[in-house]
Amino acid sequence: FRVDKGEYRHYMAKEIHEQPEVVGRTLAHYVDMAAGRVMLPEALPFDFARLTRVYITACGTAFYAGLVARYWFEQIARLPVEIDVASEARYREAPLERDGLTLVISQSGETADTLASLRYAKSQGQHTLSVVNVPTSTIARESSVVMPTLAGPEIGVASTKAFSCQLTVLLCLAIAAGRARGTLDAAGERRLIDALIRAPGLMAEALTHEGAIEILAREVAKARDVLYLGRGTSYPMALEGALKLKEISYIHAEGYAAGELKHGPIALIDESVPVIVIAPHDAVFEKTVSNMQEVAARGGRIVLIGDAKGAAEHGLETLATFTMPAVDAMVAPIVYAVPIQLLAYHTAVFMGKDVDQPRNLAKSVTVE
Ligand code: G6P
Repeated sequence: FRVDKGEYRHYMAKEIHEQPEVVGRTLAHYVDMAAGRVMLPEALPFDFARLTRVYITACGTAFYAGLVARYWFEQIARLPVEIDVASEARYREAPLERDGLTLVISQSGETADTLASLRYAKSQGQHTLSVVNVPTSTIARESSVVMPTLAGPEIGVASTKAFSCQLTVLLCLAIAAGRARGTLDAAGERRLIDALIRAPGLMAEALTHEGAIEILAREVAKARDVLYLGRGTSYPMALEGALKLKEISYIHAEGYAAGELKHGPIALIDESVPVIVIAPHDAVFEKTVSNMQEVAARGGRIVLIGDAKGAAEHGLETLATFTMPAVDAMVAPIVYAVPIQLLAYHTAVFMGKDVDQPRNLAKSVTVE
């Protein structure tokens, strides 16, 4: 399998731009488009209807995909979720019930901590399901079920297309769980699938913001600290946005649940701190608006990544507003991954950093 950068300057740029295609490919693997139903390619050795809890564990970006999935499993399937980073999960000795489900997420399928937490789960008699990008990997081999992401080889150290494909598979799984548990009827499933099928096209549309994001990146590059805020599934997206930026630009960035702003990070806010607010027009949008007002009142410079409906309503002055295409709230994280990746990428490129091989980081962490 030969991989090159093609027309792009960096693998990361190529991989960001490949997302509409690879998310589409992943969807085609898990969805019967005509029937409007999820079709898991492999039979499950457990019944979602009988589970009392799902344990999710992963590292880095894959962990944030898991954090998004927690909202999906809870809301779509009314299935309680416990989640922890693998480096903690492996040593916590958490009591896991026999015949429960542990879900591990990993691009490489070789991350040492994730593998160790998978082995711990097996030792406790759990079923194990892995969402991996490398089907021949150790984690794939040792899991009872493997749900591959069809992202293709990911070379850039900062994960991009593997992340959006992980989200795609996890949303399909949450839908399958909802159907099995009777919390999602056929009409609800068709509505979600219709929204999901539109995601690749909407990601392509999101990519058209690249020029504007590149201009904004010059401002972000001047910052010493950047804050990312979001609520609901946009909260883990804020964590992922901050991780992407710090990994490749070395600017200090923090992701926060927007409602936690007043419990600490608001003390940091002044004119020098860009505040990236991820806020699709969803059920918690109004709450996020009030957090934006708190930021604006302290002179913070807001970058809003939202949609036309939200932008029309809030009327706040922002440093920049990116109007994303309208997208179903459940599917939004998949589409909103694009602008946060582009912002990190262009900031780092503008600063002259080695985006494909950032200092001190490895693509795959196979030692503890
Ligand atoms: C490293 C990479 C990250 C990745 C994490 C987990 O830290 O730099 O991009 O998210 O490992 O890797 P995995 O292969 O398990 O998804």
